Amino acid sequence: MQYNFDKLINRNNTWSIKHDFKKEYNKPDDVLPLWVADMDFQSPEGVRKALENAVSHGVFGYTKADEKYYRAVCNWYSSRFHWTPEYEWLVCTPGVVFALSMALRTFTKEGDGVVIQPPVYHPFERAILRNNRKLAANPLVLRDGHYKMDLEQLEKTIVENNASLMILCNPHNPVGRVWTREELESLSRICLKYNVFVISDEIHGDFVWPGHVQTPYASLSEDAASHCMICTAPSKTFNLAGLQTSNIFIPNPVMRRRFASALLDVGQENINRMGLIACEAAYRDGAEWLEQLISYLHGNLELLRDFTQTRMPEIKLIEPEGTYLAWLDCRSMNMSDDELEHFFSQKAHVWLDPGVHSGSFGSGFMRFNLGSPRSVIKEALSRIGDAWDSQKNKTAEKGEQYGI
Ligand SMILES: Cc1ncc(COP(=O)(O)O)c(C=O)c1O
Repeated sequence: MQYNFDKLINRNNTWSIKHDFKKEYNKPDDVLPLWVADMDFQSPEGVRKALENAVSHGVFGYTKADEKYYRAVCNWYSSRFHWTPEYEWLVCTPGVVFALSMALRTFTKEGDGVVIQPPVYHPFERAILRNNRKLAANPLVLRDGHYKMDLEQLEKTIVENNASLMILCNPHNPVGRVWTREELESLSRICLKYNVFVISDEIHGDFVWPGHVQTPYASLSEDAASHCMICTAPSKTFNLAGLQTSNIFIPNPVMRRRFASALLDVGQENINRMGLIACEAAYRDGAEWLEQLISYLHGNLELLRDFTQTRMPEIKLIEPEGTYLAWLDCRSMNMSDDELEHFFSQKAHVWLDPGVHSGSFGSGFMRFNLGSPRSVIKEALSRIGDAWDSQKNKTAEKGEQYGI
């Protein structure tokens, strides 16, 4: 079956964070929203059918995942990632961000150092600071348009901050790196040496561009597996974020029990019925849809790449290896972060995520969400290009006026 990702779906008035809060965020009415990391595509038909059946059944009582559900999740990972998780390792939570905050509270105490590698998905830092843990930043290094982890510095960062936990973004939002097995092995050697527990956020793991391979952190070795927690969800892959269902693998039984018990401490026991139904259907029937989606997104990425190379070389695309997010180096536009945000949203009427949302190391960058129909991406690029031309003309006119 050929899926139609060109179809435009009106998401206005659906309480969509991406589309419906323009006024609250001071964006123009006609802005094209390419910011929050969800997609403007309908979920696969099998998922929608499963949800429709649940709606016509009409009873929405308490729900709990069972072995059938766990098997569907585990099969997805074993059939696609050369990793065979056991279904006993799974704990369901209402979201990955919730899970990682709970893990911080469970596995560390106030004042403990927690390592992250900025620029990175901003709730990592928020979870650390709001829970009074110490932020131990080990910034990624950008060289020749390519980001790397600074593994030498990582060791120092762990020691200096007495860190006992690290949050890894694998693949890395926003810079789009899909960490290689070798990189992850080096990281795990360091973390094991200092007894640092790794929370590996693998929510973007299904989006990997050709030539790259996603490596679940727990697949590295038995030792790595027993010192980690893998956060996954169908929410990015199948556009189910609003159903708040995530699957957390904790191979170490002691850590798993501690985590499960901490969930009970805050009263978290049952899981959203629609989320479970959608997730099971997606992992059962969604593989072909996903293959086609990835190839469609690849087309969007090519358009963006072509735009940056031919029409607006002041923007450099950091070539993504995974995720449907593109990280744009806008430093040659010579604007402050406020000016960049103003330019894109108020001049071009395209709503991107400012790089500084991922911390100060994202300064001068913007994050572009490729998960929209091709016509929307084309329109966004044309708006950005036109706004830039008109900005340049104005600057040139001013220059002439002042004889520069
Ligand atoms: C790296 C990363 N983790 C987690 C999330 C959100 O997960 P959830 O909606 O399950 O809390 C996102 C969403 O953008 C993300 O990019």
